[in-house]
Amino acid sequence: MITGNMKITDVVKAYPEAIEIFNDFHIDYCCGGKDALEAALAELGIESNSFIELLNKKLIKSSHKSSNGQILAVDHLTEMNITELIDYIIDTHHTKERYLLAEIDELLNKVLLVHYEHHQEQLVPLHGLFSDLRKELQEHFAKEEKAIFPYMKKNFNKEKGIRYVKDLEDEHEAAGNLIKEITACTNDFTAPKDGCATYRLVFQKLQELVKDVYNHIFTENSLLFPKYEGGIES
Ligand SMILES: [Fe+2]
Ligand SMILES: [Fe+2]
Repeated sequence: MITGNMKITDVVKAYPEAIEIFNDFHIDYCCGGKDALEAALAELGIESNSFIELLNKKLIKSSHKSSNGQILAVDHLTEMNITELIDYIIDTHHTKERYLLAEIDELLNKVLLVHYEHHQEQLVPLHGLFSDLRKELQEHFAKEEKAIFPYMKKNFNKEKGIRYVKDLEDEHEAAGNLIKEITACTNDFTAPKDGCATYRLVFQKLQELVKDVYNHIFTENSLLFPKYEGGIES
């Protein structure tokens, strides 16, 4: 049973299918996941009682059956130890996002060139925001894979490791802010009516990237880091 004073992150842990609904309503379950659901709804101007009632009906009815099999992974992620969770994050999220970043980069350059004349107001800032996000994510992945994750695998709940975690959380927040700007800049990933198939495709890929990054940040901030800070080895 979901209540308004539950933390958003706890709602997702108990009901992984909530991710789909939270994405649709722009409820931040990764960097803003420590907020109470009620407070996040108030900030978005959503009437909390009826929303929570609907959420309960929908989620309890679906009983962890989702069209997206990946979301159900939250259930078994909570049972993984730190090493398993780190390997899972690299194998799934880092790999997928690296691929999407390269794909979007190429597509966005094409769209920028073809539609510059009529859509430069949207495409130039979008190109800048995407370039910033790509840079941030690529450097962040390298830092995690080459420095912080190997340290975390060997040193549990160490003061230095906890400082590293704080650094990563700050970088997640910076990526989350860029994503909010990208969402606004693309009109929530809605291509203009005169946009070609590539324009629509790049928006679709961007949305896919954003959903994966949110899920990724949630897995690190809400599952991996608390486990590390709690000194749980397995
Ligand atoms: Fe990561
Ligand atoms: Fe990260």
